[in-house]
Amino acid sequence: MRASLTVLGIESSCDDTAAAVVSGTPDHATIHASVVESQIDLHAAFGGVVPELAARAHAEKLDHCVELALRDADITLANLDGIAVTSGPGLIGGVLSGVMCAKGLSAATGLPLIGVNHLAGHALTPRLTDTLPFPYLLLLVSGGHCQFLIVKSATDFQRLGGTIDDAPGEAFDKVAKLLGLPQPGGPSVEAAARDGDPKSFALPRPLLDREGCDMSFSGLKTAVLRARDQRVEADGGLTEANRNDLCAGFQAAICDLLAAKTRTAIEAYRRLAPAMPSFAVAGGVAANKAIRGVLETVCAEEELAFSAPPLALCTDNAAMIAYAGLTLFDLGQSSDLSLSARPRWPLDQSQAPMLGSGKKGAKA
Ligand code: KG4
Ligand code: ZN
Repeated sequence: MRASLTVLGIESSCDDTAAAVVSGTPDHATIHASVVESQIDLHAAFGGVVPELAARAHAEKLDHCVELALRDADITLANLDGIAVTSGPGLIGGVLSGVMCAKGLSAATGLPLIGVNHLAGHALTPRLTDTLPFPYLLLLVSGGHCQFLIVKSATDFQRLGGTIDDAPGEAFDKVAKLLGLPQPGGPSVEAAARDGDPKSFALPRPLLDREGCDMSFSGLKTAVLRARDQRVEADGGLTEANRNDLCAGFQAAICDLLAAKTRTAIEAYRRLAPAMPSFAVAGGVAANKAIRGVLETVCAEEELAFSAPPLALCTDNAAMIAYAGLTLFDLGQSSDLSLSARPRWPLDQSQAPMLGSGKKGAKA
């Protein structure tokens, strides 16, 4: 039987400072503590994440988050088998803060250090929550990323396609900004959409007619901007009902795009003839109930098992980093004190890098 491991996870790649304790094996792991300190208030006045402010806030809060996580798990550093840390991709200052914190703890305790790809953390979350069998199809959809991956193992990811410009979370955030809704935009646009009519404004479905799994969201955001401006020009302003309708129309377009491209990705995934065909959605945008709903329907129609993490494990957290670190360590992988912070780190190294810049810097 595999030995049970207890791993501390540290996450600081964007605007959440997080620490968590996870223990068990890759096939059965338990979260003992998961602390997430959001920086939303810090960046609110700027309408987006300010990398330098984020890095300083991470550096200030990391020790505190680690202490809280250890206290919540009712353990000390002496009970750990390893320290996992997000070492990329992300905003470099934030990633560096986490890596330095983890290196300090590792040097002081002699505990192994495990550098984890943030995207692998999201991608492996369905294993932590539902023990989903490999290979599974994953839609990773967040503020900085949007891609279909076949997850063949904890270290083998095949990228089928993804956004060629903005990530959907970024589009939600920008739409919220241009409609005067609070950040992060995803939850506020989702709430406004609940009271809106999705058919009131005709919004485009970019790249829907193109073959393959690539997606585009920036034109959709621009279409919302134009629709807003036209309405303001015609009526002298935007009513709350107009705003709700625009949010509903935008969210419906995202749902249609993701559902259609998921069907295309499922076709490619099926060619691998997986014994237990399964689909998972992960990342911050997976917290959206309308999006979860359409993806679940697609999976039911295509006869695939569907998995979506609980909301707290969709958005950034350190439990996913601790779990990914535990899995890598179980496979014999660890890092040393030369571990570096990487702004870009594609999961599928065989694919050409995606260009463009998002909330978290360059797309991985
Ligand atoms: O995974 P995450 O916490 O950070 C990144 O790795 O990017 O994702 C954050 C993104 C933000 O853009 C936020 O607006 C979006 O996820 N988000 C949502 C919802 N909750 C968070 N988007 C749509 N609907 C939501 N309910
Ligand atoms: Zn993330």
